[in-house]
Amino acid sequence: MNTDFLIIGSGLAGLSYALKIATYYPGKQITIVTKKEASESNTRYAQGGIAIVSDFKSDSFERHIEDTLQCGDGLCNRDVVRLVVEQGPDRLKELISWGVSFDLNNQNSYDLGREGGHSLPRVLHHKDITGFELKKKLLSKIRLCENITILENHFAIDLIVDKVPNLRCNGAYILDTNTQEIITITSGSTILATGGIGHIYGHTTNPFIATGDGIAIAYRAGADIEDMEFVQFHPTVMYRQSNRKAFLISEAVRGFGAYLKNSEGKRFVFKYDERGELASRDIVSRAIYNELKMSNHSCVYLDCTHLDIVSFKESFPTIYHHCLTAGIDVSKDWIPVRPAAHYLCGGIKVDINGQTSVKNLFACGECARTGLHGANRLASNSLLEAVVYAHQIYEYHKIQYTIPDGLKFHKELKKNVAKNAQIHVQSLKEELQILMTESVGIVRTDEALAEAKTKVSHWKRLVARHYSSPPLDLAVGELRNMLTVAGLIIAHSLRRGTNKGGYFNSDRVPFVKELK
Ligand code: FAD
Ligand code: SIN
Repeated sequence: MNTDFLIIGSGLAGLSYALKIATYYPGKQITIVTKKEASESNTRYAQGGIAIVSDFKSDSFERHIEDTLQCGDGLCNRDVVRLVVEQGPDRLKELISWGVSFDLNNQNSYDLGREGGHSLPRVLHHKDITGFELKKKLLSKIRLCENITILENHFAIDLIVDKVPNLRCNGAYILDTNTQEIITITSGSTILATGGIGHIYGHTTNPFIATGDGIAIAYRAGADIEDMEFVQFHPTVMYRQSNRKAFLISEAVRGFGAYLKNSEGKRFVFKYDERGELASRDIVSRAIYNELKMSNHSCVYLDCTHLDIVSFKESFPTIYHHCLTAGIDVSKDWIPVRPAAHYLCGGIKVDINGQTSVKNLFACGECARTGLHGANRLASNSLLEAVVYAHQIYEYHKIQYTIPDGLKFHKELKKNVAKNAQIHVQSLKEELQILMTESVGIVRTDEALAEAKTKVSHWKRLVARHYSSPPLDLAVGELRNMLTVAGLIIAHSLRRGTNKGGYFNSDRVPFVKELK
């Protein structure tokens, strides 16, 4: 099969690129490959919203840039930060033109939410289901485009790469998970928009699709991968003893005025940062980690009982009802919370056009490392980055269209003989998740990282020995990718000398710092 533009992933990054390129080139064929149903993605679950400067009386691009740089702890690319922030208003107009609606206040201007690390309210949202609104509106637009084909339940296994004269991507090998057939899709331009890695960890806000596939695929193809040590842990994920499925309590709830309290019922974040509950996520998550360690308790609490419950319900209807279903009435009860793996700041290194180090291979959204986030992402900058880099790739492709030459570059995927599987994929996945949570979490040590490295290398060899390559099964393919990504996070952690943003090694600084 041949297509003009091959997009892997149907989150905000993939869909917004598809919509634009399909409109610009009505005669060309765009194919979106997605491993489950098109709606499933991290995007779908986004709660807080999208950070865009919209009120130029109280806010400015400079303030958004400064907040982003401060959060990134010295490792952001300043030019990229400016590019992303300054494109915000144009991308917002586009989203609205596609039918996305954002909440307004009584004065008929945007109802701006506040989140950690932002010096003022700046986050546009649709109640507490911004991601759902984005996906619904973009997918319904996409379904009207005759030149876009969506292949659901199609899992990208590997890229088709020519090594000489230079690394060059010519499409991808895709497993149809309904038929177990591998199809070859050739294309002059391949865009990885495969999202996050949350499920490498045992406790995560991410849906099951977040297994880091795009990063592993790009790595195997020889693309540069950067900043993998910067895994962001979201501070406030509902804690349930009986249930490992994590439900996020948006940071916007703290922006609305909720307090974090420890097992003694005391507010504690001011001990660690003068911004208190609205410090950046890396700081709040470490503060919680510290409190839990000191108290030997399993969770801290989010106290909303002093807030205006009527407006709370209006702003956060999904969170309110989810809590109620779990037996928590937020007007009277505190919500038990603890941090969980949420977002990867690093990923596939791209330039300002979203181009990776492999020719004709592009990346955008959470799988890409653009330089925007540095060592820690500012809240709600991720949806913004996804639409801005989708736009950058689109602008590049308006000028640079690569003629796909499917036949010339078509190569058979080398198949090994199917092996006799003797390891249990689900058990190994769970062992990996426990290892990552315990040894490669919020606080790391050199010794734990070295042990984790040995274990992950051993598991990689086990999978290679016992399963056929290419994997003919989604679960095996995901496990292979999760092990690759885990290996990268560990390797990049081991080579980082000083603590920065979301990377904290207690061999460098013995304990999480409290303010005097
Ligand atoms: P995704 O939306 O994750 O889409 C990835 C797609 O790739 C999926 O369709 C997946 O099925 C597909 N895919 C993956 N691997 C393969 C493969 N091998 N083959 C085929 N298809 C594949 N950010 C904000 O800015 N504001 C927020 O309020 C916010 N809230 C969040 C709340 C939650 C609970 C979570 C989990 C994240 C939140 N984030 C938020 C982060 C943000 O949602 C994501 O970073 C962003 O949506 C990523 O978009 P994406 O298009 O890059 O990837
Ligand atoms: C949230 O609503 O707290 C998540 C926002 C984000 O991840 O940017």
